[in-house]
Amino acid sequence: MIIAVDGPAASGKGTLARRLADHLGLLYLDTGLIYRAIGWHLLENGFAPGDENAAVEIASTLDLTAIDEVQLRTAGIGEAASIAAANVNVRAAILQYQRRFAEKAPGAVLDGRDIGTIVCPDADHKLFVTASPEVRARRRGRELRLSGTDISDDEVLADLLRRDERDRTRAVAPLKPADDAHLLDTSNLDIEAAFRAAVAIVSGS
Ligand code: C5P
Repeated sequence: MIIAVDGPAASGKGTLARRLADHLGLLYLDTGLIYRAIGWHLLENGFAPGDENAAVEIASTLDLTAIDEVQLRTAGIGEAASIAAANVNVRAAILQYQRRFAEKAPGAVLDGRDIGTIVCPDADHKLFVTASPEVRARRRGRELRLSGTDISDDEVLADLLRRDERDRTRAVAPLKPADDAHLLDTSNLDIEAAFRAAVAIVSGS
């Protein structure tokens, strides 16, 4: 069983994907964290996020089992991740890892931008999770402030819109729903309601 959960930044797809995996007893992979780790290594070593050679070298040698989630969840790392992620060779370097993860027993839920379109085009279920930009900015702003970042919802909104635009318009693996994806708009749903809607989709009810 493979479940693909895609959507724009801060749409709630990560929370949903993790809960679905727990609920169904499946493995879970947040593929955004891989791109964030690449962005983090680039900045940490003084490279520009758009430095192709450095990004491909990092992506090819990254220890994907040793990703420290907390330090990667900043707006700056998200931006660097999105710039590096627009590179076809960076994406190619981590594609097999994601596919092998998806094939593991007993099955997996993967979330990202291109899971239903590129990484797992034959996934059993595909969800494309959205929410209005304002709702997403409010949710992400609250999260960032809780973790100690001094940032307004307007600043978060500007960051999200810039990143979404880049992710949507890039030439390789752009952010878009697979033709056979179920759209789930969580703008007016709390976490519980969104989870119930996702369970209904994957159980076909
Ligand atoms: O999901 P998250 O916001 O952590 O992802 C960070 C960035 O990584 C995204 O803005 C996107 O550019 C990139 N990404 C991607 N493909 C994925 C997952 C994330 O291009 N499957």
